[in-house]
Amino acid sequence: MIVCSCNVLTDRQVRSALADGGARSPGSVYRCLGCKAQCGRCAPTIRKLIDAAARACSQACHGCPVGDAIAEVAAELEQIETAAYAVAAE
Ligand code: FES
Repeated sequence: MIVCSCNVLTDRQVRSALADGGARSPGSVYRCLGCKAQCGRCAPTIRKLIDAAARACSQACHGCPVGDAIAEVAAELEQIETAAYAVAAE
């Protein structure tokens, strides 16, 4: 499934960047896949894939520092996104 229409990125490519490339944020996913954010509409979807990868990683390995770090970054991104939506709504 295409998750980023601007860069024509599939969910499979994003998952691969998370698993193989060590990407930990939407920005690092774009960089890992040789592109950059354009319109940004895909960022929430990519963040959800990051969250899912973090959950899977943490469940596979209790106390995994990588999974915990990904979960922390995902939580920070969610706060930033929420704040950005609040500013945009003003
Ligand atoms: S849909 Fe991904 S940058 Fe536009």
